[in-house]
Amino acid sequence: MPVCPYCSSGDAKPQLSTSKTLFHFCSVCGVVFKKLDGESHGKLTESVYSTQSWGEDRAESIAAHGPRLKGTLDWYQSQSPLKGSDHYLDIGAGVGVLVHYLCEGFGIEQSNISALEPVCEIAQLLQAQYPAAGVFNQNLEQVDRDVFSRDIDGVFCFGVDYLFHDLNIAFQTIKSLVKDGGRVMISRNVFLNMPCFYGGVQIQTAEHLFEPNPLISVFMFPDQYKELLNRWFKITASNVADEKYVRDMKCDPVTGQKNMFKASVAGKILMMDCIADHSYKRDAQPVRNPGRSRKYLHKLGVDI
Ligand SMILES: C[S@@+](CC[C@H](N)C(=O)[O-])C[C@H]1O[C@@H](n2cnc3c(N)ncnc32)[C@H](O)[C@@H]1O
Repeated sequence: MPVCPYCSSGDAKPQLSTSKTLFHFCSVCGVVFKKLDGESHGKLTESVYSTQSWGEDRAESIAAHGPRLKGTLDWYQSQSPLKGSDHYLDIGAGVGVLVHYLCEGFGIEQSNISALEPVCEIAQLLQAQYPAAGVFNQNLEQVDRDVFSRDIDGVFCFGVDYLFHDLNIAFQTIKSLVKDGGRVMISRNVFLNMPCFYGGVQIQTAEHLFEPNPLISVFMFPDQYKELLNRWFKITASNVADEKYVRDMKCDPVTGQKNMFKASVAGKILMMDCIADHSYKRDAQPVRNPGRSRKYLHKLGVDI
């Protein structure tokens, strides 16, 4: 039986499956997770994301995803201004919509931006558009810690951390890349009880939740997520905002399929502003409440 990576209990059972996916349900903390093999997960990432995942071209990608990313950056800027001389790392940078705003709207030099992007064609496009930025065709799990040697002042981890193979280990890795006292800025909208994905289709069945993006490795409640984050970083501020979906989207941001849906349900995005203090480490205090996960999953037609 797999050990739950989030509460270390050995009571996680492979009980939760839909037609396409198999998850483990931890009967101690209620987290739902997948055990992933690095190599096949890498191949899957290449098949899920492409240069068209954000829009057909650069202009469309910025129009579709710019408002969300600009709104998120504005909130971080209101907490503490970004600094032009600081070195930033964007994890899961995609085609560079965030990099665009960092350079155009926030005065960050391209040469002060590093980016991790595991999909080769996306990383190549990003590097071609931002030749002075340091683009690394790697996922977080493969990152060469020596390249950054705790040289990063600020990390952006926007819309990506639910894709990491093991979120707990990933936070440890991120901490190792950042300077003592550096900033870690996270946004995420994927939770066990979320209303919809980016497209705005309401989640009413387990298939709606588990199947659209096969890369998602973990589902938990927002308070469990905060507790996990708090083991590694000091959370200085958090914010929950409504996500504004673009109606009549021309392509699905995950599959790239065209004209597939209209946005109908508003989502929520959680933003967390954190400090990586290298002397800080809290013991795990997992939220042990599997009952609410069971109840929620039951609503989606899953009995565990
Ligand atoms: C949902 S997109 C988010 C992109 C961008 N940060 C945004 O908010 O629009 C996730 C991106 O992370 C990349 N990615 C997937 N798994 C990753 C991993 N383990 N480490 C780093 N990046 C990853 C994908 O290739 C994709 O470009």
